[in-house]
Amino acid sequence: MKVNVFFNPLSVDELFFTGKTTVVIDVLRASSTIVTALQNGAREVIPVSSVEFAVKVSGGMFGGQTLMGGERNTKKIEGFALGNSPLEYTKEAIEGKTIVLYTTNGTKAVVKAKFSENLFICSFLNLSAVAAHLISLNNNVEILCSGKANNFSMEDTICAGKLIAELQKLKNDIEITDSARASLALNKSFGKSISKMLNESEHGKVLIENNFKEDIKYCSKLNATDVIPYFISGVLKVIPISNLVNNSISKQ
Ligand code: MLT
Repeated sequence: MKVNVFFNPLSVDELFFTGKTTVVIDVLRASSTIVTALQNGAREVIPVSSVEFAVKVSGGMFGGQTLMGGERNTKKIEGFALGNSPLEYTKEAIEGKTIVLYTTNGTKAVVKAKFSENLFICSFLNLSAVAAHLISLNNNVEILCSGKANNFSMEDTICAGKLIAELQKLKNDIEITDSARASLALNKSFGKSISKMLNESEHGKVLIENNFKEDIKYCSKLNATDVIPYFISGVLKVIPISNLVNNSISKQ
């Protein structure tokens, strides 16, 4: 099993992911929001790479059961029902609903990795569950950090490093690339207090300026859920328990 990390989506072409097992991370906040939405009973989350496409996709869907969510410059988009704060994705707001989600970096990274054979979403919230599932699959793993404007992001890289550390706890002979090694080192140096690291990160500061301090507190929770979002036929869903037991994901 070999693990590699991409620090941002710009450094890789979408065709690279064909046949791969990929994990997309956008700790602040898209991957935390996707995990929360599915944990709280959303039917599915449809990640899109443009606002126009979000409007188009939701226009063709069953009225009332579909909500548009997402952000521009951290703020809810005009005409959308929800922003990108995971705290908005309560049971009451989203249970049974399809969410069409657009975010500046996170959903674009998911769309970029869409040709993967297995595509999972990871945040601090569900990190151990993702690690255990990757071990059970025993494939090579590509971790795609969403980054910030196609640049490096501290929080995504440290989440990648923590995920790799967890994989190493579960399996001895994991091969790691240089970028994976660097992610591990950053996690060792800055990953002890997740909330401190998030508060000091560039995007953390932007969120604080925009009154989303509570989101940072929430996104810093480690292993709060076992929910693993996976991408199938254009949508993100929760892996059914039966598939977890069988160690494989049905593509039916
Ligand atoms: C993104 O995709 O860039 C983020 O999730 C932005 C945010 O809402 O904080």
